Amino acid sequence: MILRLEPGMIHQGPLVLVNQKYPVTSSSDAAQLVPTTGIKQASSEEENTSLEMTCMEQLGQLLTACQAGDQIGIVSGYRTADQQSNIYEQSLSEYGLEFTSRYVARPNESEHQTGLAVDVGLLGTEVDYLCPAFPSLGVCASFKKLAPEYGFVQRYKKEKESLTQIAHEPWHYRYVGVPHALLMEQYEMCLEEYHEYIKRFTYQGSHLYMNVNGSLVEMYFVEEGSGDQAVPIPSGASYTCSGNNMDGYIVTIFHQQGKLAG
Ligand code: DAL
Ligand code: ZN
Repeated sequence: MILRLEPGMIHQGPLVLVNQKYPVTSSSDAAQLVPTTGIKQASSEEENTSLEMTCMEQLGQLLTACQAGDQIGIVSGYRTADQQSNIYEQSLSEYGLEFTSRYVARPNESEHQTGLAVDVGLLGTEVDYLCPAFPSLGVCASFKKLAPEYGFVQRYKKEKESLTQIAHEPWHYRYVGVPHALLMEQYEMCLEEYHEYIKRFTYQGSHLYMNVNGSLVEMYFVEEGSGDQAVPIPSGASYTCSGNNMDGYIVTIFHQQGKLAG
């Protein structure tokens, strides 16, 4: 089959980069949001929490895999622009600009507005809504370790503060999908760095390959306006396509076990 890449798709998909330089656009609203039924709430600040559908499913599986469903819950999920604006204004008046600019993204610069970000916290504890404790110990350490296998990365790390412009947030996880989360972890790249890296693997040039559980995954970048706006997907393979919210798309092809589909 032929995959056609349309300009609006640049702002959609699990790999969209959202930060001060690349805010969310109205087309990011196309994300399919679902209620976080079956996952516990660690805070009462947010009612009717929702997440993007695949993010929600994978989070459920991750919690099951680390047997954490009764210990780790959601503090914050999808937020509208208005909610982000209220959180930002409230933080500003309570804690001031220095704290707020480190821990709260400005409206439209928060990846919570995509439904692909989730703040997690420990159930049964007093949870700080903006900075919930998530220590690298016990069940939280298991969650952190297994997260990339389920497509999640800890988005804001201490050593990446100068690149993300956000302080270390051990509680904020971002769904990017497999195998991208595994690659980011392996190469110790934040999302800003990963997008620079993956741009080297163009449709016309060499592609990026990774073996995941015995199956071959192929990835490449297509720049908007490069003339490659229709790319072939081999028969027998499944795929995902995500915009980068900047200038192009990342195509990820999952070949059938043990062979390169032709
Ligand atoms: N705490 C993160 C940066 C946000 O507000 O999106
Ligand atoms: Zn967050």
